[in-house]
Amino acid sequence: MPTYPVAGKTVFITGAAGGIGAATARTLHSRGANVVLADRGIDAISALARDLGGDRTLALSVDVTDSAALADTVDRTVDRFGGLDVVFANAGIAADPPATIATIDPAMFERVVEVDLLGVWRTVRAALPHVIAARGHVLVTASVYAYFNGMTNAPYAMSKAGVEQFGRALRAELGIHGASAGVLYPGWVHTPIAGAAFGSNDITTRMREIAFPSLLGKAIAPTRIADAVVRGIENRSARVMVPRRWAPFSALRGVLNPVTDLIAERHPELRRLLRRLEESADPTGKSPQTNSPR
Ligand SMILES: NC(=O)c1ccc[n+]([C@@H]2O[C@H](COP(=O)([O-])OP(=O)(O)OC[C@H]3O[C@@H](n4cnc5c(N)ncnc54)[C@H](O)[C@@H]3O)[C@@H](O)[C@H]2O)c1
Repeated sequence: MPTYPVAGKTVFITGAAGGIGAATARTLHSRGANVVLADRGIDAISALARDLGGDRTLALSVDVTDSAALADTVDRTVDRFGGLDVVFANAGIAADPPATIATIDPAMFERVVEVDLLGVWRTVRAALPHVIAARGHVLVTASVYAYFNGMTNAPYAMSKAGVEQFGRALRAELGIHGASAGVLYPGWVHTPIAGAAFGSNDITTRMREIAFPSLLGKAIAPTRIADAVVRGIENRSARVMVPRRWAPFSALRGVLNPVTDLIAERHPELRRLLRRLEESADPTGKSPQTNSPR
């Protein structure tokens, strides 16, 4: 028996229009939870709510960078369901196109951090008083990029490392209230956010093939993440790692990261691809990497 069954609980999900969020909403709903589908734009989440049946669903359009709008969606959730037990802060974006720190559009860099890191904080902040009152659970979506080298994806990786720290601190702090928090670490998942590593960008697709051993470089279906998320909530798990094959890399990160970082820095083909990426960002050929003596 799960320690914290989701049936009858109200779960607020950001990024609910997307792969992991939508799949999780479906699984939670099928297990008897009330699901609040929060995302930018109303069309996709309204369609999902209709598909699930209006009874235990609420679709709310919100940008997770907007604290006032988040407070409003939380109020509407509580009005509708009488409380809020679980928040799944899951909305995220990656820089598009992928780029190095030297060549990325600064506005793009900061937008990724704003959504992926501050968006998580703002979502949780808005929901937290209700979660504490309900002795509920918070789940924040990090990534294997919380500990894997984030080359060509730095604002994303630094945000996910921050989300991991946020979730760990929150778990320690919530214990005194009888509530809990956990961190979700998906590996590669077949959703639009992973597109640049799976075909939509030739350079970063090739880099993913080189940097990730074949078993770790494979993408899995969002439904597998959804099943693990529901188990993670029901067991109030501190860490939800899917697929599980990533777990040893997280556990051994102190030993493995210096090695993989060195490979990332020195691998001749990765260096060639990095140069190509910078040149494609700067067709004049004056990119810092092109002029670098190394
Ligand atoms: N797909 C992967 O390989 C992978 C791996 C590790 C972690 N993740 C993380 O999983 C989470 C879900 O991503 P996904 O894979 O389902 O991708 P996705 O692109 O299908 O879903 C992301 C969702 O977030 C929403 N969103 C983006 N910015 C928003 C904002 N400002 N306000 C509200 N909603 C916003 C999008 O509209 C979209 O529905 C993200 O945090 C992502 O970083 C994904």
